[in-house]
Amino acid sequence: MRIGILGSGLMGAKLGTIFVRAGHDVTFSYARSERKLMRLARDAGASARAGTPADAAREADALLLAVHWSRVDDVLKQAGSLSGQVILSCSLPMNENDTALVIAHTSSGAEALAKKVRRAHVVSAFGTVPSEVLFDVYASRRKKKRPSLVYCGDDKGAKATAATLIRDAGFDPVDAGPLRIARYLEPFTLLVGQLAYEREGGPELTYRFERLKPAAARRSRSRSSPRPARG
Ligand SMILES: NC(=O)c1ccc[n+]([C@@H]2O[C@H](COP(=O)([O-])OP(=O)(O)OC[C@H]3O[C@@H](n4cnc5c(N)ncnc54)[C@H](OP(=O)(O)O)[C@@H]3O)[C@@H](O)[C@H]2O)c1
Repeated sequence: MRIGILGSGLMGAKLGTIFVRAGHDVTFSYARSERKLMRLARDAGASARAGTPADAAREADALLLAVHWSRVDDVLKQAGSLSGQVILSCSLPMNENDTALVIAHTSSGAEALAKKVRRAHVVSAFGTVPSEVLFDVYASRRKKKRPSLVYCGDDKGAKATAATLIRDAGFDPVDAGPLRIARYLEPFTLLVGQLAYEREGGPELTYRFERLKPAAARRSRSRSSPRPARG
């Protein structure tokens, strides 16, 4: 795939590099220094390059939006028309000092983004894990049990693209449903952040959802609620 990175900071730089290693063509864009973008592209590999947000968006199969919420309008303006394009967003709708969500409960950052780019297909993805785990998860991708990564969106094709890239990055994609589910996903990310950055053990934290198989679920139910003895 051709992937455009809109925001080449902690998340964008690492995910873009991982996408290159996984065999994709990547354009890094939107940083305060052009030299940083050029260095990033050089270090990521032969199929990476540096460009403007408009370069990144041109003919991209997917865009990763990875900027602070306060920079979303600016980077979208620089990217130009995103009509028909797939936007994977890890950007959370945080206030200036990153202490609270500015959109929650009755909407979400992902839904607000979808309203800004009405003709694009927005998927909320990659925002539920700290950037500190990304390279390690990719390095462990051949392990049988992968960490989960929840995503949600309204467009089937865009979600298939998201699932492929999530898998390529070493995670097990968990489809949480339509884009409005970002109302749950985004606060969940704050919980992950609390565990990663405010509790002991360091930020190298992933999560994994396990669905019990029906038989195992039945067995565990009968164990926890024994039937009364007959007779
Ligand atoms: N970091 C995490 O672990 C994490 C986890 C989950 C979700 N998120 C969310 O993901 C999004 C990105 O987070 P991040 O930590 O990757 O942010 P970040 O490191 O601050 O990266 C943002 C990028 O935007 C660029 N930028 C900022 N202001 C700019 C300007 N005026 N002109 C041009 N470029 C500018 C930065 O440039 P420079 O490179 O020059 O600084 C950087 O490349 C946020 O919405 C965050 O809430 C982050």
